[in-house]
Amino acid sequence: MAYIELKNNTKIYQSGDTQIYANKDITFSVAKGELVIILGSSGAGKSTLLNILGGMEPNTSGDVIVAGKNIAGYNAKELTTYRRNDIGFVFQFYNLIPNLTAKENVELAAQIVPDAMDADEALKYVDLGDRENNFPAQLSGGEQQRVAIARAIAKKPELLLCDEPTGALDYQTGKRILKILQNMSRENGSTVLIVTHNAAIAPIADKVIRIHDGGIQDIHINKKPADISTIEW
Ligand SMILES: Nc1ncnc2c1ncn2[C@@H]1O[C@H](COP(=O)(O)OP(=O)(O)OP(=O)(O)O)[C@@H](O)[C@H]1O
Ligand SMILES: [Mg+2]
Repeated sequence: MAYIELKNNTKIYQSGDTQIYANKDITFSVAKGELVIILGSSGAGKSTLLNILGGMEPNTSGDVIVAGKNIAGYNAKELTTYRRNDIGFVFQFYNLIPNLTAKENVELAAQIVPDAMDADEALKYVDLGDRENNFPAQLSGGEQQRVAIARAIAKKPELLLCDEPTGALDYQTGKRILKILQNMSRENGSTVLIVTHNAAIAPIADKVIRIHDGGIQDIHINKKPADISTIEW
């Protein structure tokens, strides 16, 4: 059985008199431990899709089955437990807590699950071992993004959802982060979904899902995913 089964997922935002179809009838499945890249241009509905999968936003209709359970039918309490135990989320705009240091930001997430990584270890993993006592405002955009990634992987989550995780990073740092995310799938067994508009990184994924105007345009399976060191953009 697939780990994620999305069936006819639709999300409509009401904006005044107009209805915005952010997700239109999206159906796909993801196996456990798969690395999936979701590609699409700005406004295509990628963040909406990730927020629904992460249990942060309700959909309008359709099934969102994760590990055999339909989270589309979950109440607020069930969704809290789901987000807390099963999900690591890297936000497009980091969402770090400004009055906590890098280390404290990671610790806060790590302490809510039993078998977490050490905050130190997670920060070393993203090459920020020497900046753990800095507050977010003392870090560059790319460094803040790496703290956000450390925070998500410290939970060793079953499902790791990453919204443009390399958006603020230079080429080499971006590659290093992609390698970490790929390792989370290959070594930790996490199912990893990466949202991006950068088609050049698609070859590293097991599966590439293209979204256009809220709907699925194309689903492609890479029989032999590329090693990150071989891709360029
Ligand atoms: N809370 C909201 N209320 C109204 N419309 C929204 C809301 N959130 C998103 N939308 C609309 O839904 C559509 C999809 O937005 P979404 O943020 O999912 O796009 P995206 O693919 O993540 O884009 P980007 O690459 O720019 O981050 C857009 O037209 C957006 O304006
Ligand atoms: Mg987005």
